[in-house]
Amino acid sequence: MGLITIDESRCRRCGCCARACPVGIIALGEGFPITGFPTTVEKIEKGCITCGHCVTACPMAALSHVRMKPEECAPLEPDWRLTPRQLEQLVKGRRSVRNFRPEPLDPDVIATLLDIVRYAPTGMNSQSVSWKVILDEQEVQWLSLAVVEWLRTLDGQEMHGGIRGMLKAWEMGRDPILRKAPGLVIAYGQAEDTMASSSATIALATLDLAALSFGLGACWAGFLHQAALSSPGVATALALPPGHHMCGGMMIGYPEFEYSRIPTRNPARVIWG
Ligand SMILES: Cc1cc2nc3c(=O)[nH]c(=O)nc-3n(C[C@H](O)[C@H](O)[C@H](O)COP(=O)(O)O)c2cc1C
Repeated sequence: MGLITIDESRCRRCGCCARACPVGIIALGEGFPITGFPTTVEKIEKGCITCGHCVTACPMAALSHVRMKPEECAPLEPDWRLTPRQLEQLVKGRRSVRNFRPEPLDPDVIATLLDIVRYAPTGMNSQSVSWKVILDEQEVQWLSLAVVEWLRTLDGQEMHGGIRGMLKAWEMGRDPILRKAPGLVIAYGQAEDTMASSSATIALATLDLAALSFGLGACWAGFLHQAALSSPGVATALALPPGHHMCGGMMIGYPEFEYSRIPTRNPARVIWG
């Protein structure tokens, strides 16, 4: 069986499948107007990244991929796009949330979020981002403690004022590392996967926005990430599978309060070519 199968009674030979294929392995027959049905260029078939663009670009559901059939691909709702105004409000209204209500998180809600986030782009459609979810405030605190213990080992030069301040805050019962969050979502990938980090960052940024629709708020766990990459103790405390490392993480929970205004930001610095 070939990589793609065409239902010739449906195919209009519009060529969308061939144009949508990012690796150019679909060709139409010769001539103009196009007379042939789409076929794959066999020699380069193995370059297929199973992104499903050929299946989902076809307006007639005429193309079936050996690993993805049109009936497996949900039709998009007609009004799926946000208006520019809605999108602007969403992006500008998102804030890093560092104050959480002490409310437990429902694992089903986080699972639903991650089910959405798996559609974020990944390098070569590798879909290689893996997740570790901690929904126990005490466990999150233990990770903060592991980071604090690592910070205490830093030498004079590394121990700048900011870190000293964080250690002081910790000693006063505050948690400047993971903000007493009720939940933590860690994205991890294979240590040798050069694209894992970018894919995970994009997935986390998507999670940050998606969380808003569930009434949740998130904040990048940058200190934990830095510690996980620098401290064997913190990496051990994270207990990720062998050969994998943390690519980023977010504290997550229900925000204690809402923001009612949009803070100012620098104008975009752009070189127009
Ligand atoms: C890579 C990265 C790491 C971050 N790490 C932390 C962190 O460890 N703790 C924290 O409170 N905020 C962290 N932040 C949040 C930033 O401080 C925040 O995005 C910035 O102040 C702007 O605020 P806003 O996200 O509400 O617009 C991080 C953000 C990024 C992008």
